[in-house]
Amino acid sequence: MESIWEINYSKKSANVRPSPVREILSVIKQPGMISFAGGMPAPEVFPVDEFFEGVSVLKNDGRNLLQYGTTEGYPPLKGFLSEWTAPRMGRRVSQEEMLLTTGSQQVLDLLGWAMIDPGDTVVTEDPSYLAALTAFHNHGANFIGIPTDAEGMIVDMIPEAVNKARAEGKKVKFIYTIVNFHNPCGSTMSLKRRERLVEIAHELKLPIFEDDPYGYVRFDGEHLPSIFSLDPDGGVLYAGSFSKILAPGTRVGWCTGPKEIIRKMTVFKQAIDLCSSPITQALAYEYCSRGYLDTHLPKIIANYRQKRDAMENSFRRHLPLEEIRWVKPEGGFFYWIEMPRIDVRALFEKAIEKKVAFVMGMPFFPNGGGEHNARLNYTYSSPEIIDEGVRRLGEAMRELLAR
Ligand SMILES: Cc1ncc(COP(=O)(O)O)c(C=O)c1O
Repeated sequence: MESIWEINYSKKSANVRPSPVREILSVIKQPGMISFAGGMPAPEVFPVDEFFEGVSVLKNDGRNLLQYGTTEGYPPLKGFLSEWTAPRMGRRVSQEEMLLTTGSQQVLDLLGWAMIDPGDTVVTEDPSYLAALTAFHNHGANFIGIPTDAEGMIVDMIPEAVNKARAEGKKVKFIYTIVNFHNPCGSTMSLKRRERLVEIAHELKLPIFEDDPYGYVRFDGEHLPSIFSLDPDGGVLYAGSFSKILAPGTRVGWCTGPKEIIRKMTVFKQAIDLCSSPITQALAYEYCSRGYLDTHLPKIIANYRQKRDAMENSFRRHLPLEEIRWVKPEGGFFYWIEMPRIDVRALFEKAIEKKVAFVMGMPFFPNGGGEHNARLNYTYSSPEIIDEGVRRLGEAMRELLAR
């Protein structure tokens, strides 16, 4: 029998779906399991001492910081970010063009509140970040998925897909893209495609949401201009985060964009959490203003580059190479592999028996697919563990192929 809660659930509750990554946490916790599943930073690189150095200073301002903060965010941290992100944004943005959030995940939800009515359409990469799909789905969105290759989203496919949806009477609201070190694909959008994306968005009169939590974690090559900096006309909302460059436990993210959308999202945020924690925002500010963010970044980049290389070498050593395709990521957290002859569900089962976990491809695809894809994280484990995990995975693949 249904409880008094269940009979009164909202229509939204019927469609809500738990995160497949969080769902497999219990599997990952089994003793001896090697996990490539999460998207977690390496705990050994967390700057524990430097981060908590600010505590004694902040105590002097304790009565203020223990109070509610402003919804817009802690002004000194916004000031720092405006300065620090200026090279990437193409200019220093004003306080009114920035909102501090509870992780950048909250930006996805706030944008959903501000822009999506049930039945509206969002353009995304196909595949895309699964918690973005879930956040937009919770607001009733459906999706146009645009295929990707080694240069990111194949943007020239957008106009036809959008025009077709519009001809069917659908309201297309914005383009969501992860241009740097894509989650899950690992790919980075080329400059030519970034420029073309801005042109296309103008032609179609669509805003762009550029989600960039990994952009500063680049191992090779040069940083490319953000989409925000390529569009001076205010058509882009940019989201950044401290999660991957400092620590996800801070739950500090931000977004930058035209005043009107920032204002609208701020009003929704008032009802969601009143404000993000002033304490972690102030701690993040103390850390950054002492120059630690700039000295920390090269350390995590070196650590993760070594692990990316370890995974690449382990792939070459242990996987049945003729059966697998991947793009070597120039930064970020993930490898994305394609295995045309292997069913990923069968591989997952076998891999769990051998005590190695990853995330199957399906949940990343907004409209189905992914049965031959897997996402593997390399930042969390040591190079030795990565090698052993990939060895087990290779064994599982060979056993399936021999069937
Ligand atoms: C593409 C992308 N966007 C946003 C987020 C959310 O990160 P956070 O809320 O920790 O800033 C993540 C986390 O993995 C991500 O991969």
